[in-house]
Amino acid sequence: MRTPYALVRRWTIVPLFLVAIAFVAFSLPPYLTFDPARSRVPVGGAFRAYYPLLVAHVVFGSMALLTACLQIWPWLRSRYPDVHRRTGRIYVFAGVVPAGAIGLVLGALTPFGPVIRASNVVLAVVWLVVTITGYRAGRQYRLADHRRWMIRSVVLTLSIITNRIWAVVWVIVLVPQLQTTFGGNEALMIQTIAGLSGWLGWVLPLLVTEWCLDARRAPTPAVAVTT
Ligand code: HEM
Repeated sequence: MRTPYALVRRWTIVPLFLVAIAFVAFSLPPYLTFDPARSRVPVGGAFRAYYPLLVAHVVFGSMALLTACLQIWPWLRSRYPDVHRRTGRIYVFAGVVPAGAIGLVLGALTPFGPVIRASNVVLAVVWLVVTITGYRAGRQYRLADHRRWMIRSVVLTLSIITNRIWAVVWVIVLVPQLQTTFGGNEALMIQTIAGLSGWLGWVLPLLVTEWCLDARRAPTPAVAVTT
């Protein structure tokens, strides 16, 4: 009989999957129309390739988000390791690598100010490095390393969702302060919300992940010192 822990481990993926599907169902459709007027990001700047790159980023990012959920599903991993390997390649090469490389360019060009610009560029680089390191560890059958790096990678992929949650929090907190803290400057307020949400969206989950990974390492046995 399965223990409650095993059941929880097996099925916690369900709410995560539902959230990821809801996110993609909300985010992706406007970009599939290829109509710049339906973009949720201002796309009228001097860089003409901005909009096509944004569409490509959203498509590859959606692929990364959906396959990330499959990769961390313990049941799928243990029951169908071949599927895990195949969807893993899709996650890396049709998800993170193209979405991250394009995210790096878009991040450097963001219209939302310097604080989120720094966050996007650093996040894109960390996302790419962590994912490729995890992929290489998997190819070399260093499975404990593969697992740790891929957990970090998936946490960074999911940070697109935590980022949006922080944005809602900061909108609620800061919009009433438009006339006071921001002296009526709406652009400054939007940049502040974007910057705070960007950094908190990925740095906090990554810190918590590091803490959990450390806590799960086997403790070094205490050595009794005798004289
Ligand atoms: C984790 C690394 C990522 C980075 C660095 C990144 C970066 C960016 C940047 C720079 C933009 C343009 C808007 C702006 O200037 O802020 C953008 C837009 C967007 N990204 Fe990403 N992104 C990442 C991951 C993802 C993932 C995994 C998805 C999943 C679907 C995604 C979905 C989107 C969407 C939908 C937009 C358009 C804005 C909207 O409609 O809300 N991104 N991203």
